[in-house]
Amino acid sequence: MRIRRAALYMPGDSMRKIQKAAAMTVDTIIMDIEDGVARTRKAAARATILEALRTVEFGANEKLVRVNPVGSGWTAQDIIETVTGHPDGYVVPKVESAADLIYVDRLLNDLEAQHCLERGSLTLHAIVETARGILNVAEIAQASPRLTALQFGAEDLAGDIGATRTPAGWEVFYARSAVVTAAAAFRLQAIDGVYLNLDDPEGCYEDAKRAAELGYTGKMAIHPKQIEPLHRAFTPTDEEIAAARRVVEAAAAHQAEGVGAFALDGKMVDQPIVNEAQHVLAKARLAGKL
Ligand code: COA
Ligand code: MG
Repeated sequence: MRIRRAALYMPGDSMRKIQKAAAMTVDTIIMDIEDGVARTRKAAARATILEALRTVEFGANEKLVRVNPVGSGWTAQDIIETVTGHPDGYVVPKVESAADLIYVDRLLNDLEAQHCLERGSLTLHAIVETARGILNVAEIAQASPRLTALQFGAEDLAGDIGATRTPAGWEVFYARSAVVTAAAAFRLQAIDGVYLNLDDPEGCYEDAKRAAELGYTGKMAIHPKQIEPLHRAFTPTDEEIAAARRVVEAAAAHQAEGVGAFALDGKMVDQPIVNEAQHVLAKARLAGKL
């Protein structure tokens, strides 16, 4: 599994922003053809992305292309005109049902065959960000073996359901939880939506921390300034790693003695607490801290 703490978006028609992102350690870079690109610039974005994929060195970053939603009339062209640049995969926005992803999955099957790419090698992320998408998130999470992550789009969702965005975010809380729960049920990563305020890295960190507490393993970013706070929010601290290790080691020692539940520092530890500690260690391993 790849680490995806920050998923940095940039308009696909901006070679400069693609180059800037590619030179950084982001985790995931998403070159956009959808809402970050004007309707008159879709063709320019496809051409720029293809050129970037062919000429820019992305280092260890995952390189993805966000296409226009299924039903827009642009999706197939977005994929066909960029696939020969060998991206790692595609991000499909406004996914409303399994059928949307199955459509893209089949198109990728055909293109992989046509271009002699390994079958199934192109991955998919689905953005769930509409009322229908939230209702169908369980079927979406199972729609394609290519799917590696679900992304949650709070802004589009608020627009779709007529909610007003607030700093606390209760208006999208049900949906934010539904997406991370569906992702966990089908062993996918969950990537939280954007923090819009560009000049507030600590606010971005706090929002990402709340997402991490819900079980998200990463968050969308829209500016390079957001990468450091996101890496910080989704990487366990040394103290968290030490505490998790202690729980796991103590549990193993107690299991060897035939004891399932025990007290550690005045708190009860049993299997769910051990599982939570294992999650912390798995994240630390992915981040290269173990
Ligand atoms: N990816 C890569 N580089 C970026 C970037 C991004 N998302 N956003 C800004 N930068 C770069 C700029 O190119 C600039 O570098 P330069 O001066 O060397 O060219 C530097 O970071 C500082 O940028 P700044 O002046 O603070 O921002 P801006 O006014 O140029 O752009 C936005 C502001 C919001 C337009 C820009 O951050 C952006 O395009 N974000 C992504 C939008 C998007 O993709 N939306 C759809 C998905 S939600
Ligand atoms: Mg969106």
